[in-house]
Amino acid sequence: MNAWLNRFPLSASADPASPSETAALELSGACPDLKVSLNLQKEMGDRFSISGDPSGYHLSGGETGLLYGAWHLILSHAANDLCSGSVESAPRYALRMINCWDNPDGSIERGYSGRSLFFRDGKLSYDPSRIQTLARLMASVGLNTLCINNVNVRFPAQKLLEEDLPDLARLAALFRPYGVRLMLSVDFSQPMRHGVPTADPLDAQVQAWWAETARRVWTAVPDLAGFLVKADSEGQPGPFTYGRNHADGANMLAQAVRPFGGVIVWRCFVYNCRQDWRDTATDRPKAPWNLYAPLDGCFAENVILQVKNGPFDFQVREPLSPLLLGMPKTQKALELQLAQEYTGQQIDLFTMAPMWKEIFEDMPEDRISAIAAVSNWGDDENYTGHPLAAVNLFTYGLLAWNPSIDPRQAVSRWIALTYPGFTAGEHTLLTDLLLSSRRTYEKYTAPLGIGWMVTPHTHYGPNPSGYEYDLWGTYHKANHEAIGIDRTAGGTDYLSQYPADFAQKYASPEQCPDLYLLFFHRLPYTWRMRDGRTLIQRIYDDHFEGLAETRAMRDTLLSLPFPEEDRPEILRRMDRQLANAREWCDVINTFLYRLSGIPDEHGRKIYD
Ligand code: GCU
Repeated sequence: MNAWLNRFPLSASADPASPSETAALELSGACPDLKVSLNLQKEMGDRFSISGDPSGYHLSGGETGLLYGAWHLILSHAANDLCSGSVESAPRYALRMINCWDNPDGSIERGYSGRSLFFRDGKLSYDPSRIQTLARLMASVGLNTLCINNVNVRFPAQKLLEEDLPDLARLAALFRPYGVRLMLSVDFSQPMRHGVPTADPLDAQVQAWWAETARRVWTAVPDLAGFLVKADSEGQPGPFTYGRNHADGANMLAQAVRPFGGVIVWRCFVYNCRQDWRDTATDRPKAPWNLYAPLDGCFAENVILQVKNGPFDFQVREPLSPLLLGMPKTQKALELQLAQEYTGQQIDLFTMAPMWKEIFEDMPEDRISAIAAVSNWGDDENYTGHPLAAVNLFTYGLLAWNPSIDPRQAVSRWIALTYPGFTAGEHTLLTDLLLSSRRTYEKYTAPLGIGWMVTPHTHYGPNPSGYEYDLWGTYHKANHEAIGIDRTAGGTDYLSQYPADFAQKYASPEQCPDLYLLFFHRLPYTWRMRDGRTLIQRIYDDHFEGLAETRAMRDTLLSLPFPEEDRPEILRRMDRQLANAREWCDVINTFLYRLSGIPDEHGRKIYD
């Protein structure tokens, strides 16, 4: 085991029946000397309050509130920051979700930590003790909803709603005492596997099929949270086939699950993935807004639109999706990706909390009503492959509970819990390293807001033209003079999808923050940045800096006393990261040097 639970093993006989029982069990296991009286007040739900001091505490909360309060005490005790006085705590969002992209064959789409913990050989198959650890990992940081199967629903995942229901019910029972409710990704065309001739959401037979299916599913798993749907996206079926819109599709499913208190989480990751690169009129980031904004106010109450943080797809840096600032009459969830698909694949370090902070600086917390993240775990012994990638899972839990957490405090807490033997100096070194890792990765991979220079399909390592002449709508359009896309009114006009005061920040290249410059503007390599450097020089400098910082990171990691179970893996991955950083630095600099013909002012090695 790893992550942050190492120090809190659960007794093998533990078999709690409810979250409040779990709370008592975890407290007596983890802090037997701490006196805590538990006071169950059902109406408090997820909320808890704590009063007292280290000689004794009173913890009040609902069923799950007691569990979250217990973990608050356990983690504070372990991190040596138990306090006196009183604490009141309530989560910002009722649904704090993890989305697993696990397939029935046991593979994980964009998974970098081994195979699925839920599936094997086409069906549910798991080790109950590992499921219990997952449930504890989630509960310890307040996460409460888990979608176990890939949003790309491929046969036989459909059987989860059919003959695999009894197995699903057994799995749900393992999570229940930890306050975790399951969710399922569903295939919009599933009625057609059962003799219904269509999946048209306005067809009565289709509606009846889903209503009856929901009844069967909720009979087996009465607390199922709902369904997650990827429709009309990257080959998944959806309402467009029948000339219907996404409100028609989502509302039909919402109607079916409403009697059971279920929700429909409907993803907004929809765009033309068969674009001709010669087509300069289409600009992919505009797609979600164009599709969904006109439907504001048309969705049923139990529909939540799930929106990726950026308008493209989990790149290293993207501006906030305009949908997250718009659609005031629609419930929305923010979707983040813990799996490091474009951000180093759990080989390179990329601590996400600073990036999330930026999202919430741009988006008031109340614009969304739920939060989700694509999981970064798998069946590797330590769950997240890279031992240090667990920091993203941990801090995501804290963020979902309270989006205004300070990234430094959150990261520092994870280190305190995971590496309690570190001195204060070592602790600070690792905190600084993790907090700066995103910017370092960005420096060597993504020049000033340009994404997608990755190797196609695998998405690890550089290939600056890999997606340039492809059909995914992801172009940088670098030529011998200029690079970037003009997304202002004079260009694709994507910028007009934002509220005016937000758009203002990015509208002129003179004022646009450097790190978004080439996302919003097309500029010559000789463009003068505010600090006097040319654009191309800034890009060269960033790449050389990113490589140098990665070297320094390696030295820091070598100097830290990681425990034996983590150290070899951390250093092995660091070596791979260093090779990757060098490759990125050389490939991107060479690519742009060959195009522009402009040498590095400092005469550093760029290949010609
Ligand atoms: C990305 C990712 C896919 C995934 C998709 C999604 O495009 O590469 O593997 O299916 O996002 O979020 O649906």
